[in-house]
Amino acid sequence: KTVNWSAEQTGKSGYDHFMLKEIHEQPASLRQCLSGRIDELAGHIVVEELDELEAPRRVHFVACGTSYHASLYAAALLRDAGVPATATLASEFATADPPLPNGTLVVGITQSGETADTMSALRDANSRGAETLALTNVVGSTAARECDHVLYIRAGPEIGVAATKTFSSQLIGANLLVEKLLGKTTTSRELIESLRDLPSNVQAILDDSNAEEIVDEYLDSTAYFFIGRGLHFPVALEGALKFKEITYEHAEGFAAGELKHGPLALVTANTPVFAVVTGNDENARKTIGNVKEVEARGAPVIVVTDGQSDAERYADAVLKIPETHERVAPLLANIQLQLVAYHMANRLGRSIDKPRNLAKSVTVE
Ligand code: G6P
Repeated sequence: KTVNWSAEQTGKSGYDHFMLKEIHEQPASLRQCLSGRIDELAGHIVVEELDELEAPRRVHFVACGTSYHASLYAAALLRDAGVPATATLASEFATADPPLPNGTLVVGITQSGETADTMSALRDANSRGAETLALTNVVGSTAARECDHVLYIRAGPEIGVAATKTFSSQLIGANLLVEKLLGKTTTSRELIESLRDLPSNVQAILDDSNAEEIVDEYLDSTAYFFIGRGLHFPVALEGALKFKEITYEHAEGFAAGELKHGPLALVTANTPVFAVVTGNDENARKTIGNVKEVEARGAPVIVVTDGQSDAERYADAVLKIPETHERVAPLLANIQLQLVAYHMANRLGRSIDKPRNLAKSVTVE
């Protein structure tokens, strides 16, 4: 008896696409990223590779695409902790020519470690005397070899052109890096526990997600918008990028508060808005205000929420995530948006693993 599977199908372990397989690999890839890096008893993060790294005075992230969204998140974490940090698109780095005074660390976030724009920014930073660090997935990649320091995200190979599991691991890598850069001897108990519970929380989302049913309602829309505030702003951008990459539908991510400064003109009953709202703080309250604004224009609202606020009251549909630390919530919310993009693209019959015009790794500037 023979099994009727092509070699490619076998590589997909029974999943229809590498992207779906990789989305489902996340509990394992995140466990691998964190393995040996949390000392629960002592309550701190262990990143031995970076033991030689001295705490920088300021940090400059450079990256492209999905990795740029991880950079926005990472820079926000550092700023929250009082360290000046910015994120620049690698292709704009040379044009921006940012000052790199003594004590500046330039961090390249790059899944492949080969992206030409990112390498060029890192080389430029290096030639101007800045210390460089690569946050990458690929062992022995150009970025890993050329930077002064390297932190691996250990996500395993990613075949789908659309980055999924590697983005999640970049967010965790950013947390490891930030704790290390702050030179902290202890990490908050809540964060340690949330990292420990992360793989099972991701699994719970994968087991229960209603993303497939939700996209069915909105197949014929004119455009799809994604909004988030604070640490959810990069997730709004990433949700939209994933969506446009593989569905070929028009999608945009906005800072929730920026809607009223222009994008609101595009909002109609035919433009579903995905809003990420977690916790029940000032950020949540303000984002709910923005949700009401789009609702008043007749737009369907799909809220990604942990249920702590009353955001669901204003939603046409809800994508649930477990409650967790505010730094980890963006990762969980993004898993739901990965599933939204995947199922929409699948319903539309798109080429999911190899979207038109795109490459996994871009080695030209
Ligand atoms: C390409 C890929 C994107 C990726 C970007 C940066 O454009 O299609 O998915 O985010 O490169 O890649 P890197 O390997 O540097 O993270």
